[in-house]
Amino acid sequence: MDGNPDSKLMFIGEAPGFHEDKQGVPFVGAAGKLLDEMLASIGLDRTSCVICNVLKCRPPANRDPLADEIESCHPFLEAQIRFIAPHVIVTLGNFATRYVLKTKQGISSLRGRKYEAFGTMVIPTFHPAAVLHSGGASSPTMVSLLSDFQLISEAMKI
Ligand code: URA
Repeated sequence: MDGNPDSKLMFIGEAPGFHEDKQGVPFVGAAGKLLDEMLASIGLDRTSCVICNVLKCRPPANRDPLADEIESCHPFLEAQIRFIAPHVIVTLGNFATRYVLKTKQGISSLRGRKYEAFGTMVIPTFHPAAVLHSGGASSPTMVSLLSDFQLISEAMKI
């Protein structure tokens, strides 16, 4: 977990990658740099939020998390959610969104709206890595991500 445990905005990603595994800090690689830029776009930084992952260990060769790995890690994630008691949870990508919203639907059809889970508002959005793999700054994925961050900003003002 990284960020400010007193903040009420919690981001949940998928799993540590190579750099996160080495440093023990979530989102420190390329996707993390983009997440920092997205936070800056709404006037926030890592002192204004908390960042964690569904999986607490790096899957070999960065493969997708397996159902039994998610099952093994879920008590830790749920303890983090209870401890932080966020006002807004932002799920980044399919794995975090499906886990938190208990759905099989994909992020493309879920993003852009607010939901409720764990007694908390949930805003699902694309994983920053999806933007990096989809054409970068002018891609539709980036436009959606920027728009979702406006939703996050408005939700944090309520
Ligand atoms: N992707 C994630 O989902 N989490 C990280 O910590 C880094 C990359």
